Amino acid sequence: MSNIILETVGLHKIYNGKSAERVEVLRGVDFKIERGGIYYILGHSGSGKSTLLHLLGGLDRPTQGDILFEGKRISEWNAKELDAFRAKKVGFVFQFYYMLPELTLLENVTLPSMIAAKSGGRRKALELLERVGLSHRLHHRPSQMSGGEQQRAAIARALVNAPEVVLCDEPTGNLDETNAENIYNVIESLSRDEQQTFAIVTHEESFVKGKPNVYRLAGGHIKKEYFSET
Ligand SMILES: Nc1ncnc2c1ncn2[C@@H]1O[C@H](COP(=O)(O)OP(=O)(O)O)[C@@H](O)[C@H]1O
Ligand SMILES: [Mg+2]
Repeated sequence: MSNIILETVGLHKIYNGKSAERVEVLRGVDFKIERGGIYYILGHSGSGKSTLLHLLGGLDRPTQGDILFEGKRISEWNAKELDAFRAKKVGFVFQFYYMLPELTLLENVTLPSMIAAKSGGRRKALELLERVGLSHRLHHRPSQMSGGEQQRAAIARALVNAPEVVLCDEPTGNLDETNAENIYNVIESLSRDEQQTFAIVTHEESFVKGKPNVYRLAGGHIKKEYFSET
């Protein structure tokens, strides 16, 4: 069996604005994600990082080309199949956490399992919150927590339904250096211990330098990035 969990083939995305200006963001992206890996995708602002992640997670449809999840073309799925894919197979982490302010931390992290009508969500949420170092904060509200803590909680929330792959859109873009390092450490340990697959997009080169599986998105194409030794 192939170890590739998610793959893009000749992926194109063109936005056609109302005033008829055409933005050709992706111009043939071929990218393979293996199960259990951590993939970093570097790119400047506007290079199409969010666009690519949204396509990988079934939040948007390509103009041309295919996305294969476990070898199946997601472009051929109907709305119901795509909904199930997004709810159960993919976890999302965003730059601005998006915790619900009126819920406690534990409630926020448990919520996706309730939406997906999955049992055992509370137990899984407790376990993940311990993994990300937030066991002492279960009944706090998001406004009582730091940005770094909220982002760790957002990672726990993305994992609560045990998705096949977690897609992170600039997860450290709003954090200082220490908290950003901490997020990468949490992701690495979860990837190792839960055999979780991550694809992380960022414009912050300093954090990904020297790591394996770093790719560069530029000019609508993706390429493996090799850092020089200097
Ligand atoms: N819905 C949209 N309609 C039109 N243009 C868009 C839309 N979304 C993104 N773009 C444009 O596509 C380009 C890539 O955007 P994005 O994927 O958000 O880049 P990044 O996440 O790397 O900053 C930008 O020029 C942006 O303005
Ligand atoms: Mg973006």
